[in-house]
Amino acid sequence: MLVVVVVVVLALRGASGAVAETGIGVNWGTVSFRKLKPTTVVDLLKDNKIGKVKLFEAEEDVLKALMGSGIEIMLGIPNEHLSLLSSSPSAADMWIQKNVSAYMSKHGALIRYIAVGNEPFLTSYNGEFQNFVIPAIQNLQESLVKANLAGSVKLVVPCNADAYESTVPSQGAFRPELTQIMTQLVQFLNSNGAPFIVNIYPFLSLYDNGEFPQDYAFFEGTTHPVIDGPNVYTNAFDGNYDTLVAALSKLGYGQMPIVIGEIGWPSDGAMGANITAARVFNQGLVNHVLSNKGTPLRLNSPPMDIYIFSLLDEGAKSILPGSFERHWGIFSFDGKAKYPLNLGLGNKELKNAKNVEYLPSRWCVASPSSDMNNVANHVRMACSVADCTTLNYGGSCNGIGEKGNISYAFNSYYQLQMQDARSCNFDGFGMVTSRDPSVGACRFILGVKDKDSDSSASQITTTYKYHLCILLTLQYEDTTVCFNVSELSHDSQDPQVLTFQHVFRCQCHGTAPKPFLSF
Ligand SMILES: *[C@@H]1O[C@H](CO)[C@@H](O)[C@H](O)[C@H]1NC(C)=O
Ligand SMILES: *[C@@H]1O[C@H](CO)[C@@H](O)[C@H](O)[C@H]1NC(C)=O
Ligand SMILES: *[C@@H]1O[C@H](CO)[C@@H](O)[C@H](O)[C@H]1NC(C)=O
Ligand SMILES: *[C@@H]1O[C@H](CO)[C@@H](O)[C@H](O)[C@H]1NC(C)=O
Repeated sequence: MLVVVVVVVLALRGASGAVAETGIGVNWGTVSFRKLKPTTVVDLLKDNKIGKVKLFEAEEDVLKALMGSGIEIMLGIPNEHLSLLSSSPSAADMWIQKNVSAYMSKHGALIRYIAVGNEPFLTSYNGEFQNFVIPAIQNLQESLVKANLAGSVKLVVPCNADAYESTVPSQGAFRPELTQIMTQLVQFLNSNGAPFIVNIYPFLSLYDNGEFPQDYAFFEGTTHPVIDGPNVYTNAFDGNYDTLVAALSKLGYGQMPIVIGEIGWPSDGAMGANITAARVFNQGLVNHVLSNKGTPLRLNSPPMDIYIFSLLDEGAKSILPGSFERHWGIFSFDGKAKYPLNLGLGNKELKNAKNVEYLPSRWCVASPSSDMNNVANHVRMACSVADCTTLNYGGSCNGIGEKGNISYAFNSYYQLQMQDARSCNFDGFGMVTSRDPSVGACRFILGVKDKDSDSSASQITTTYKYHLCILLTLQYEDTTVCFNVSELSHDSQDPQVLTFQHVFRCQCHGTAPKPFLSF
């Protein structure tokens, strides 16, 4: 077995001449309330010499900002679009025209890959998307040919590591119900010279499974190695990677290039999600892949590229998976490096985003005199709209006391409302202060001005005023709280975008109207 592997590696090296170094990229997600301007983010990427970025969808302002930057792009298509793209060649043509061709002029965006779906085979989707993938790929490939882009843009499918399974890496195989689709997929990828994309999350293995040995998640040796015949695995990444290698081998494509589409560690919001762990994991990962050691089944042949998840924290993400979900960034939402990290790209440490325009140094806190018994509903409302996940068990603000909790909630909401004075009222329980209320590692955020607060952008935003009482079911608990949504901003370019401007608690009478249906 070992001998065979060595021969294969030699043959590969002989063919390619030199071993290429793993490319280090990042995932740039934009599910945030207040986003940095895309141009600020592109400068952040450039300052950190990050030359590869993965996007989850084709957002115009993001792609425009990337034009001429020289940064290579893997552009995602959300799963929800796969059904249409699989059934309609003209929809695929349109997608390529509007979302790819339009940006690929001479000094345009370097779109290298299109990620067709995002983990479309995820077990929890129960097969909802899986039959759309191959037909969508076929349509999109035709469209690329028509657009003369088939030579420069490759279609790929980022899979979650749950697409394959095994007790030991060498026995890896794709899930039985995926065998046929995976066979078609890898044949397509191979004929196109495209890599297999996989997302690997040792953090989630640790989070979901109390038995998972913590040190096996990192890259610093373990007291629980996995012994697989002659091969010894000391970290979850290698074990997982080789399980995929074995699964690909079973289909006859054991040498298919592999790209890690997402990998990272959150820094807040759960036990085991903290700054130290995130730094140790990400630095260990980068050092590991750049060492070119490879894995037992692919000696000296690390992944082609890895895309760290993620670039920035995304404060508006669903916390269904856990509170950590909003804290994957190597930078916080405002582009500040959370910890020193050497990406092996030339800088010894991360550089912060430049020219970030913060709101004035003002925070909203609980006023000292107020009776704290009556604020629970205010806190619940604030945290249902803004992000309070750092307050949770294991979070960086978990130990700041009851009053601290209230202030944190008030402030998160106030910053989200662009420091609108009315949003710090809370029936008189809130007050604005110019002293930073941050305590220790618990940082009270200060909002940033984003594109929505530019005067140029105001032309496209129409504000409709509503005086409504709506029912909102909170994500945290089954409690129903009423809010008075007195203003909803309605982006006239994209009717699906609604922004809450001022949300106040109110009395609900009778059945609440449903404002979302009125557009
Ligand atoms: C381009 O991508 C966006 C974002 O995924 C999508 O909403 C839009 O429908 C796409 N455009 C076309 C013409 O399909
Ligand atoms: C950070 O997380 C790691 C493991 O993920 C854990 O061992 C460590 O105790 C945590 N540190 C703190 C300060 O909570
Ligand atoms: C602060 O809020 C968090 C999250 O809801 C909770 O776990 C913690 O117990 C609260 N602290 C106090 C002192 O009420
Ligand atoms: C909602 O708030 C607006 C503005 O403060 C007020 O005029 C309106 O009466 C309120 N509606 C309800 C139902 O409380």
